[in-house]
Amino acid sequence: MRALDKIFRSYLQKRGYAVSKLPVRSFDDGYSLVSYSSHDEYVSIQIDGNKKKIDKVFADEETIGIICDYLRPRSPKRGLCHGSRNGTEVRWFREKLGIEVIGSDISDTAPDHGLIQWDFHERNPDWVGRFDFVYTNSHDHAYDPKKAISAWVEQLAPGGVLLLEHTLQHGPQGQTKLDPLAIDLPVVPFAILNMSDGEYAVTDIIKPAHNKGGGRFYVYVVTRTLST
Ligand SMILES: C[S@@+](CC[C@H](N)C(=O)[O-])C[C@H]1O[C@@H](n2cnc3c(N)ncnc32)[C@H](O)[C@@H]1O
Repeated sequence: MRALDKIFRSYLQKRGYAVSKLPVRSFDDGYSLVSYSSHDEYVSIQIDGNKKKIDKVFADEETIGIICDYLRPRSPKRGLCHGSRNGTEVRWFREKLGIEVIGSDISDTAPDHGLIQWDFHERNPDWVGRFDFVYTNSHDHAYDPKKAISAWVEQLAPGGVLLLEHTLQHGPQGQTKLDPLAIDLPVVPFAILNMSDGEYAVTDIIKPAHNKGGGRFYVYVVTRTLST
């Protein structure tokens, strides 16, 4: 059965359709999610995954440099990175922009890496409206993308930008119990507009020239819409 499943997935992939390895819930908003038996199961899978991969870095310095070039004309003063594991991207942002940048992670390893242990879905009153940019490449770890992305937009200072680094691995082919959210690369602006009830939207796309995560990838720039 598993072999058949593999053959079907590979057939579809060759014809431009990526499908998940797991049963998922698909939403009209343009994304799908893996389910958990409980919130505790979600948290323990995330913390276990964090510990197993604690020395790995998904962010790459070239992309963070390109994002910094994008941010510099906006003269940012403060940044926040979500799901930062060992804090490497936080350090790169600090070094390249010379400003205060902090990071979150759900795992109890966070303080060992200078990060704040926090579930990025949750509202942190100290962070509301404080950051000129919020960056993440960990949005595929969200069990409730609308809750998480709305919390991140709320953390933006006036004129601030939310940066979502999205590769093919953030789509169905990378979907697992560790990475429960899948959105196909070109569908992200549609999914975000649907989630936001029109309050925020993808208003720009950074398109690095190099490949990552199996092909082309984008950094989607999300801002509040004019009406909010
Ligand atoms: C794919 S790793 C990316 C790590 C880092 N950004 C990098 O580029 O190497 C995802 C990280 O998100 C963290 N994470 C997962 N769910 C989270 C949540 N709900 N809130 C905060 N962090 C979370 C995990 O613990 C893990 O360290």
